[in-house]
Amino acid sequence: ASANIGVVGLAVMGSNLARNLASREGNTVAVFNRSRYRTDELVSAHPEAQFVPAFSYEEFAASLSTPRTAIIMVQAGKGTDAVIDELLAVFEPGDIIVDGGNANFHDTIEREARIRETGIHFVGTGISGGEEGALNGPSIMPGGSVRSYETLGPILESIAARAEDGTACVTHVGTDGAGHFVKMVHNGIEYADMQLIAEAYALIRRGTGKTPAEIAEVFSVWNQGELSSYLIEITAEVLRQVDAETELPLVDVILDQAGAKGTGAWTVQNALDLGVPVTGIAEAVFARSLSSAAGQRSAAKGLAGPSAVAVDDADAFIEDVRQALFASKIVAYSQGFDEIVAGAAKYGWDVKKGEIARIWRAGCIIRAQFLDTIAKAYAAEPELPALLLAPYFREHLESAQDAWRRVVIQAAGQGIPAPAFSSSLAYYDGLRSDRLPAALVQGQRDFFGAHTYKRVDKPGTFHTLWSGDRTEVAQEPSTH
Ligand code: 6PG
Repeated sequence: ASANIGVVGLAVMGSNLARNLASREGNTVAVFNRSRYRTDELVSAHPEAQFVPAFSYEEFAASLSTPRTAIIMVQAGKGTDAVIDELLAVFEPGDIIVDGGNANFHDTIEREARIRETGIHFVGTGISGGEEGALNGPSIMPGGSVRSYETLGPILESIAARAEDGTACVTHVGTDGAGHFVKMVHNGIEYADMQLIAEAYALIRRGTGKTPAEIAEVFSVWNQGELSSYLIEITAEVLRQVDAETELPLVDVILDQAGAKGTGAWTVQNALDLGVPVTGIAEAVFARSLSSAAGQRSAAKGLAGPSAVAVDDADAFIEDVRQALFASKIVAYSQGFDEIVAGAAKYGWDVKKGEIARIWRAGCIIRAQFLDTIAKAYAAEPELPALLLAPYFREHLESAQDAWRRVVIQAAGQGIPAPAFSSSLAYYDGLRSDRLPAALVQGQRDFFGAHTYKRVDKPGTFHTLWSGDRTEVAQEPSTH
């Protein structure tokens, strides 16, 4: 038994994670894959690495020192359960099974409860950063027991991305499914970020007529400022790319139907369950759905729209779009953190928001300078009622609001869809409104269903006798 950590599942993510682990001082990595050729390939391609290849689960278990710690890197779903069952058969109480896939956190909660009874620890872990992150340093979001983190923590810290201040982008997020929950919200925010950038691109392209290569320059400039992030950086790269075959910008050759593996939709589904308005993320998920509704889109092609008029001052418009993008991004993150707070309350996790922002500063797909600002905002005021109310973000929203409104007006006027920009602005306006028309909705509910309402001027629950003499009566709240 010479390995201190094992990896099961050696497709690209698993192999890269195993290589990352093996490259760190002090780690010896047991590796196992269902079909042995992947194991052979990995080990022979990296003779320098501290690998211990195993060709059966028994061998795998025997090669690990106790407590045995193994990270499963297989497609989320049924495959995960099959591997877990194999490991349960050869592991002992005190050992640790880590699921590093994009599992649904509900599954993780169930698995953790089931496996806990055997005395083995089960840790659902979010890992972000794609293939490159797995190899060179991802952002890691482990859940599971505090006890398991004592063993696992130092191993994960050895491979996690390092933020500029040198700290590792990993923390014990919370118990059982907390890690996968937070990874899910990370992905939801990733969707929102990507959609906002895509809307900014579409607005500039259609509003100013600039080419993708010219817009790439705009994004490169933005990447020097407060929007600086991995996603802005790769956006410039994608826009600059020319298709070798047609010599057209690659972005004009790619079919405009966005795929999705489901984590964005989960984020929204859970937000609906929790009653948290994650409008930015929801618009991003729906925008992908709309893009993929090929039949309807082609049937709708003739629908009338406004005649396009280019903006007068392209530079001023681009600056407006930049500000609108930053403001909408603040809203999307604020909403995402609201979902984390609500999920933590519902599932009994002690999630530290500042810590989440801290471990998202490097390694993950949404990595950005912005996350350092978020971490600082939570450090200054851990119980902020909403992230967007932190002084820095509040000031930015207030100073961006005029530009933001101009952009949304322009989008509507020109018929350029900007659902995430528009809904984020609507959320901002909703949140800051003294009075909302929800009062009218309550009146309607009371009218047709006697659902009752409360009053602004006195306590109690009331109902108007709508089909009688329309006097008001004090009532017990209705249960239907
Ligand atoms: C990450 C990513 C990753 C995710 C892809 C694809 O954090 O490294 O979030 O986990 O699987 O981004 O997601 P979609 O296919 O749903 O866009």
